[in-house]
Amino acid sequence: MAHYDWATLYEKLSCCTDCALAKGRNNVVIGVGNPVADIMLIGEGPGRDEDMQGYPFVGAAGQLLDKMLAAIGLDRTKVYIANIVKCRPPQNRTPLEDEAMACLPYLRAQVALVRPKIIVCLGKTAALYVYDKDIHITRDRGIWRIKKGIWILPTYHPAALLRDQSKKKEAWEDMQALRDKIKELDIAL
Ligand code: URA
Repeated sequence: MAHYDWATLYEKLSCCTDCALAKGRNNVVIGVGNPVADIMLIGEGPGRDEDMQGYPFVGAAGQLLDKMLAAIGLDRTKVYIANIVKCRPPQNRTPLEDEAMACLPYLRAQVALVRPKIIVCLGKTAALYVYDKDIHITRDRGIWRIKKGIWILPTYHPAALLRDQSKKKEAWEDMQALRDKIKELDIAL
């Protein structure tokens, strides 16, 4: 794995053309939050608002995410947030496998720099590439797994919660499980 410092990573990504998503972007959306956080959240990819503003989760799904974090005493100063792909897929479609694979080395570099104790995968795409190829988010959400010493929790994507209110109860259970794990690991916030 290539080792980057933040400055080199930002420099490399700002002019990245490793996949076709580069053509349609306004901004490369790298990450937001605390770069040495114990908790990292990973989404799918930038939408319209994120592409325009250059930061992850600034649109409607991001506002819901902020509320969910606030409910367990977290905010963007206490977590680091990134996505599987850093450029907006056309019409917000799911990133293609080759796009995700092209971008994963940069996400791995971010994880290596942040060194989180916990990673929360927001939705199937994040869980698929971070966690397990056989993920079924409805089956596997809320189940902790440990990978290379990092606790990983898959949960629903906030955009899925906006579309389907019936998922909110389980999403709230997952937030409580996150809060409990933070306590268990003695993570100072
Ligand atoms: N959805 C994502 O997965 N990531 C964002 O940054 C915004 C919406």
